[in-house]
Amino acid sequence: MASPIKRIAVFTSGGDAPGMNAAIRAVVRTATFHDLHIYGISQGYEGMVNGYIERLETRDVANIIHRGGTILKTARSEAFKTPEGRKQAYEQLVAQDIDACIAIGGNGTYTGALTFYQEYGFPFIGLPGTIDNDLYGTDYTIGFDTAVNTAIEAVDRIRDTADSHNRLFFIEVMGRHSGFIALYTGIGSGAGSILLPEKEHTVQELVKVLKNGAKRKKMFSLVIVAEGHPLGGAQAIADAVKNEFDYYESKVTIIGHLQRGGSPTAADRILASRLGHAAVEGLLKGIHNQAAGIVNQEVRFTPFEEAIHNVKPLETDLLEMAEILGL
Ligand code: F6P
Repeated sequence: MASPIKRIAVFTSGGDAPGMNAAIRAVVRTATFHDLHIYGISQGYEGMVNGYIERLETRDVANIIHRGGTILKTARSEAFKTPEGRKQAYEQLVAQDIDACIAIGGNGTYTGALTFYQEYGFPFIGLPGTIDNDLYGTDYTIGFDTAVNTAIEAVDRIRDTADSHNRLFFIEVMGRHSGFIALYTGIGSGAGSILLPEKEHTVQELVKVLKNGAKRKKMFSLVIVAEGHPLGGAQAIADAVKNEFDYYESKVTIIGHLQRGGSPTAADRILASRLGHAAVEGLLKGIHNQAAGIVNQEVRFTPFEEAIHNVKPLETDLLEMAEILGL
């Protein structure tokens, strides 16, 4: 039986992530291959509410696989959180005869898609696009690998100064509710300590680690702090430690949005390409209200409810390993 899906719209939502463009390209090219009409919604749900919907042709996505950010722009929409906003969004999609949407974003994006599906029965597939890697149903999210590589490159540079001046650096990386970026950056940059929201850590424990390092003639130290750490950001933790431990001169660096942009790594381009392709193929097979991901190298679809409400576990055993390696 022929698929009832003829016109698909794709959009990006929430924080931009490197590899989103590669995903858009894969969606457009796969849809075109299947003779579907494909539309781009600019500015995420905000653009859906306002009807910023335009036809995308295969050449519109040429020369973007290597570009960071998102050619479709993105937003965190307040209007779509209201029933009136969602009604308007639905009317815009109906006016353009759109049969299904592919939403690229994080947990908030999936939540919006689920609500919309529940209210209007509108078919959606989600693709995990966030540097935070905090989405259940996929081993990695699009953008995470690039963000970690960027953060590690930054820490490598800071290491030179920390070493030259015998300093203690507190380096804050992104990850609002999750420590994936901090953990992977910490391991990859050989940090002495890694502070994550998922693992309770007191200032006294950190001071103890630093004192032990100093006893072993460790001349400088790097502490990676996830921005969502309950003790506060890197500055708050540096201030708390300063009162108890003055062996090293301490400095704070917040990497911030530097780690959100930039050309995607090979891993992110390949992940995004596979998932963009899988999303269109999935819609044609009748899959909807689910998020595509890759688990153990294989494409897997996870219902939005599950993807939203389950927490992807952080490998805290890696934290123990990092502590040993950072001695
Ligand atoms: O969710 C991605 C992310 O980069 C988080 O790590 C960070 O806390 C947040 O977005 C920052 O959002 P904004 O760019 O809107 O300030």
